[in-house]
Amino acid sequence: MYTKPEKSASSVKSVSLTTFAKMKAAGEKIACLTAYDASFAALLDGAGVDLLLVGDSLGMVVQGRDTTVPVTLDDMVYHSQAVERGISRAFLVVDMPFMSYSTPTHALASATRLMQEGGAKMVKLEGGVQQAEVVAYLTERGIPVCAHIGLQPQLVHKLGGYKVQGKDDAAAQRMRSDARALEAAGADMILLECVPDSLAGDIAKAAGVPVIGIGAGPAVDGQILVTYDMFDLTPGRKPKFSRNFLTGRDSMADAARAYVAAVRDGSFPGAEQSVGD
Ligand code: KIV
Repeated sequence: MYTKPEKSASSVKSVSLTTFAKMKAAGEKIACLTAYDASFAALLDGAGVDLLLVGDSLGMVVQGRDTTVPVTLDDMVYHSQAVERGISRAFLVVDMPFMSYSTPTHALASATRLMQEGGAKMVKLEGGVQQAEVVAYLTERGIPVCAHIGLQPQLVHKLGGYKVQGKDDAAAQRMRSDARALEAAGADMILLECVPDSLAGDIAKAAGVPVIGIGAGPAVDGQILVTYDMFDLTPGRKPKFSRNFLTGRDSMADAARAYVAAVRDGSFPGAEQSVGD
């Protein structure tokens, strides 16, 4: 006998891109987390998380791989379908895995599967100005896109590891212009990973779309963490920018509510989670 995850009340209003635009305008922080299955999705949705990302981080935290590179489109569709079944309110974003968006038409075919089969409301892809053509091709066809810049884990073999990005002036300038180019191409959201706090704050201030940070300090429009890090589930070294919200709490639901509250009131991330300035 097993328990099917119970969704929260169906009368709750679903989060949409309009919700995020209003939150950014009002200075209300957006609370986001990753999810890979229906039970976690239902738990996090019930705790008030606004956006759930089926991240290709599942390659590492669920499949136990060394990087996100081997994750396939079929993997993403499978996990997205499971997460979608657990959601009542949250906005579902799904990662485009490595090389599933190598050309505009390839990206369109991949994004179509993630939306039609996986139930995604937005797709996320990694890359700066060089992805502007792909972003324009998708958004002109009505596919909402989140552009992921800063540390791009799919480039780990090119970068030689997971490192803070945008540390010197030239790299910071490139990141600012990447963000501008992606927004001009139609990106509906920008995600910044492992970026100095003040650079991230500048990019969020200049952007007309919500900017979500992971390891990017408090001055952005919202925060995201890999849920397994937030619960300290995965054995091994923890990213500096994460916090274990289960500490001192006796349930995952409580920990998730505490995360949402801390993002909303600006107490997460704190100085100890900063990757630098
Ligand atoms: O795959 C993932 O989980 C991500 C993180 C940055 C949230 O992209």
